[in-house]
Amino acid sequence: MQDRPREQWGTRAGFLLAAIGSAIGLGNIWRFPYVAYDGGGGAFLVPYLVALLTAGIPLLILEYTIGHKYRGAPPTAFLRMSKAAQPLGWWQVGVSFVIAVYYAVIVAWAVRFAGFSINKQWGNDPDSFFFNDFLQVADEPGAPTSYVSGVAWPLIAVWVITLGVLLLGVRKGIERANRIFIPLLVVLFLVLVVRALTLPGAVDGLNALFTPDWSEITNGSVWVAAYGQIFFSLSIGFGIMITYTSYLRRKADLTGSALVAGFSNSSFEILAGIGVFATLGFMAGAAGVPVGELATDGIGLAFVAFPEIISNMPAGALFGVLFFGSLAIAGFTSLISIVQVVVGAVQDRTGIGRVPAVLGAGGVTALVSIALFPTNEGMYILDVVDRFINQYGIALAGLVVVIAVSWIMRKLPVLQRHANQTSAVPLGGWWRIMLGLITPIVLGWMMWDSLRTELSANYEDYPTSLLISAGWAVALGVIVFAVIMSVLPWKHGGRETQPTEAGEEAKN
Ligand code: ALA
Repeated sequence: MQDRPREQWGTRAGFLLAAIGSAIGLGNIWRFPYVAYDGGGGAFLVPYLVALLTAGIPLLILEYTIGHKYRGAPPTAFLRMSKAAQPLGWWQVGVSFVIAVYYAVIVAWAVRFAGFSINKQWGNDPDSFFFNDFLQVADEPGAPTSYVSGVAWPLIAVWVITLGVLLLGVRKGIERANRIFIPLLVVLFLVLVVRALTLPGAVDGLNALFTPDWSEITNGSVWVAAYGQIFFSLSIGFGIMITYTSYLRRKADLTGSALVAGFSNSSFEILAGIGVFATLGFMAGAAGVPVGELATDGIGLAFVAFPEIISNMPAGALFGVLFFGSLAIAGFTSLISIVQVVVGAVQDRTGIGRVPAVLGAGGVTALVSIALFPTNEGMYILDVVDRFINQYGIALAGLVVVIAVSWIMRKLPVLQRHANQTSAVPLGGWWRIMLGLITPIVLGWMMWDSLRTELSANYEDYPTSLLISAGWAVALGVIVFAVIMSVLPWKHGGRETQPTEAGEEAKN
C-alpha cells in the first residue's frame, strides 16, 4: 500500500500560531507566577533566562529539526534517524498520552468555573466549594468509590471538541482552531491584565513578584524549578514539535520559528505573572494581609484564591469569565497538540487514515481520562501522575533523547546542516555545545536531585501505595509500553516508505 500524501500546514503563520498555542497553556497562567514568586521573584528571572537559553531554545530547535528532517511523528522520526532509536519516540508518545488524560480534566474545571463565575456559585467558601461540592474529593487517597457527574460532563465536552478538531485534520482543524483561539486568548488576557493593573493594591502585588530575593539564586532547587518550568511551558519532551514540524513544507524557517514561538511563550508567561500578582495585590490590600499569604501554587491559586478575589471585586463576574475563559482556551490549544502526538504516531506507523486514528487512539485517550478522573479520588491521582510524569517522563525522556542524539548517534552536525539549509537564523557551534554538554549536565543533575527528594520522603505525604500505582508504575509503564511498541512488526513509516512532498506548497 502506498503511503498517503502527508498533511501540511496551510501557511507559515498558521503553523506558528499552532506552535505558540501548544506552548502557551496551563503552565503559563497558573504555574509560572507562583514558581517565579517562590523562586526569588525578580531574581528568578536569572535562572529562568539561563534555562531558556541553555536548554529551552536549543532543545526546541532540536525538536523542530528532527520532525522536519525525518518527517514523522516521534516513533517514525526516531526510527528514520536510527533503527534502534524508535523506543525514544514511543516514550514521548506515552508521555503525551499520560499528560493528555489529566490535562483535559483541568481544562474541564476551567470551563465549568467560567460558568460558575457568572453567579459566583462558590458562595462564601470557595475552598470547600471546590474540593467538597465540585470535585467531591474523598477524605483519604485510596480506590475510587464514586463518580462525579458534575466533572464528567464538562470533561466529555472537552474531549468531543478536541477530537472534533483533530478529525478535521492539520490544516482545517488544528490550524484553524489556533487561528481563532490564539488571537482571542491574547485579547481576553490583555483585557484581564489591564483590569488587574487598575485595581487598588496592584502595585503591591507587582512589588511582591518582582522584588528580587538574591539569596534564592544559590538555592539548587530554584534552578531545578526554572528548568522544569521551561520544559513544561515550551512543551519540550512531549514530542509535540517533532509532530508539528513534520507537517511543514520542505522549505521552512526552523530556527526563526522556534525563536518566535519560544519568546512569545515567555512573554505571555511574564504577562500572566503581572496579571496574577496585580490581582493578588488587590486582594491582599482588601484583606489586610501580605501578598505572600495569598500566593499559592497551581490548583489552589486558580480554583480557590481567584474565586475568592472574584467575589470581592467590582464586576467580578466579568473578570472571572475572562480568567477562566483564558485558562480554558490556553489549555485547549495545548491539549490539541498533545493528543495529536498520539494520533500522528499511530497514523504514521499503521498507515491508517486520520479518522480511524483519531477515533481509535484519540478515543482511547478520552475514555481513560473520562473513566479515571471524574471520581472522588481523581484529584489525588492527578496530583501524583502530574508530578511523576513531569520528572520521570518529560525531563528524563528529554535527557535520554539529548544523550542519544548528541553522544550516541552523533546526529547534531547533520541536524545543524539541515536547519541551516532553510532557516533565517543560522545555528552555530554554540547550539552543539549547549545540547552536547550543558543540557545533559544540567538535566542529569536535575534528575539526580529530584530522585534524591523522591526517595527521602513521600511526595506530599501520600501513602506509598498511591505513589507506586499512580506514580512509579505510570512512569515505568510508559517505558515498557515504548519497548513493546517498538518490537511490533509495523508495516509503515520505515526508511523505505519515507513519504515525498505532498505536492501542495504552503502559501505564505
Ligand atoms: N506547554 C503547555 C503548558 O504550558 C503544556 O501548559
